[in-house]
Amino acid sequence: MRDLTPNKQDLDPIEIASRDEIAALQLSRLKWSLKHAYDNVAHYRKSFDAAGVHPDDLKQLSDLKKFPFTSKQDLRENYPFGMFAVPREKVVRVHASSGTTGKPTVVGYTRNDIEVWAECVARSMRASGTRPGDIVHISYGYGLFTGGLGAHYGAERLGCTVVPCSGGMTARQVTLIEDFRATTIMVTPSYMLSILDEYRAQGLDPRQSPLQVGIFGAEPWTNAMRAEIEDAFDMHAVDIYGLSEVMGPGVANECVETKDGLHIWEDHFYPEVIDPITGDPVDDGGQGELVFTSLSKEAFPVIRYRTRDLTRLLPGTARTMRRMEKITGRSDDMMILRGVNVFPTQIEEQILAVEGLAPHFQIELIREGRMDEMIVHVEAAVTHTADDARMSAGHRLRERVKDVVGVSVRVNVTEPEKVARSQGKAQRIVDNRPKG
Ligand code: DLL
Repeated sequence: MRDLTPNKQDLDPIEIASRDEIAALQLSRLKWSLKHAYDNVAHYRKSFDAAGVHPDDLKQLSDLKKFPFTSKQDLRENYPFGMFAVPREKVVRVHASSGTTGKPTVVGYTRNDIEVWAECVARSMRASGTRPGDIVHISYGYGLFTGGLGAHYGAERLGCTVVPCSGGMTARQVTLIEDFRATTIMVTPSYMLSILDEYRAQGLDPRQSPLQVGIFGAEPWTNAMRAEIEDAFDMHAVDIYGLSEVMGPGVANECVETKDGLHIWEDHFYPEVIDPITGDPVDDGGQGELVFTSLSKEAFPVIRYRTRDLTRLLPGTARTMRRMEKITGRSDDMMILRGVNVFPTQIEEQILAVEGLAPHFQIELIREGRMDEMIVHVEAAVTHTADDARMSAGHRLRERVKDVVGVSVRVNVTEPEKVARSQGKAQRIVDNRPKG
C-alpha cells in the first residue's frame, strides 16, 4: 500500500493547533451555541429552565455538565421541525432517519451548515489519504440518509471527481470502479464485502483494482474486518463516523498514517463520554456513551445529545484533536446472554479469526423455555463448503466465542450467499424472541 500521509501544510491549521487554542475556540463557540439553542428552540428553553441553568452559567468548558441531556425521544416529540433554531425558510435541506421504530427523526441545515458539513467531510477524506483530483466512487445511499449526499459534497469540496453511484446494483458498481479507475470508495464496510464478492464472481483480482483508499462507516466494524478488506484489495481501509442528529458523516475520522481511532473534529463538535446508567461524566480513557454538543450548527443545534454509541475518548496523535476509539457498538445493540454483555463486533472478530468462514453473518436471538439463546448464522468461505469443513469451522467458532467472549452460542454455518446481504447498513441482530 502506498504512503498517503497528507502534507502538514494541506491540513486546516486548527487540526494541529495547540490544545489551548482548541479549548479557547470551543469555549467561545459553546457559549454561542447554548445561547442560540436557548433563544430559538422552545424545547431547550424549557429543559434548561427546568434544570435551573442558563447559557450565562457556562464560564468554562466543564460547566457543560450542568446542562440537561437531549435524547432521540426529545427529537421525536418535536417532529417534524420543532427543534429548528432558524425560520424554516432558512433551512435549505432536511434529512431524516428511516424511522423503523417510530416517527423518523428530521434534521435540518442552513446554507452555512451545508458548507461546514462539506468542509468536515473534505477534512475527513484528506485524513483518509484522498487528494484533490482523485476519483471518488460513492456507494453510500443517496436520499434522506446522510451518507450519500454528505460524502458527495465533501468530495466535491476537496476537489475530487465524484461518481455518485448510491447503493445497489453491485455488478454495475464493480464495472464503474474499474472503468472510471476510482481511487477512493466511500461505502459501508458490509456492502464493501458484497462488492468484494462481486469482484471474485466476475473473475477479477481485487488486488489489481484501482482503489487505494476505502472510507468506511455508518455501522460498527472491527480491526479484524479492516485487515480482511485491506488484504483483499491492497488498499487502506479508514473509519469515518457520524450521525444525522449531529450532522451526518464526518464528525470524526481516522488518519491514514496511524489508523488508531477517529479524530473528532472538535472545533465543531464537543464530545463527552458518560456512564450510560447514571449519566455521570467519565474521564478521558474510560468507556461509556458518547455525547455531543454542536458548536457551530445554525438550523439544528444539539446540546449534550446522547448518541447511544459506546467508546472511549483518547488523546490526539496524528492531530491535536482528541480521538474516539473505534465504536464497540450501540447500547441498543448490546445483547445480554446469561448475564454476559455481547456486541455483534465481538462475534465479528471471532468469525474473522476462523479459517473457512466468510465475514457475512447475522445473529438470531430466540427464547427456549425461559432462556435466551443466540444463533450465529455465518457463511462458509467458498473454499470450505463441504459438510465436514463447515462442521469443523462451526465448531471452532463456537469454541472461540466461548473462550474469548465467554458465552455459549449455537453456530449455523451456511453455504455461501445464504445470509441476508446489506446494500447499506447491515442488520446484524434478528430478534425472534416472543414480544412482551
Ligand atoms: O450513519 C452517518 C454516516 C454515513 C456515517 C456514512 C459514516 C458514513 P445515521 O444513519 O444517523 O448516520 O446513523 C448514525 O450509525 O450513531 C452509530 O451507531 C452508527 N455509525 C456511524 N458511523 C459509524 C462508525 C450515519 N464509523 C449511527 N462506526 C451512529 C460505528 C457508526 N458505528
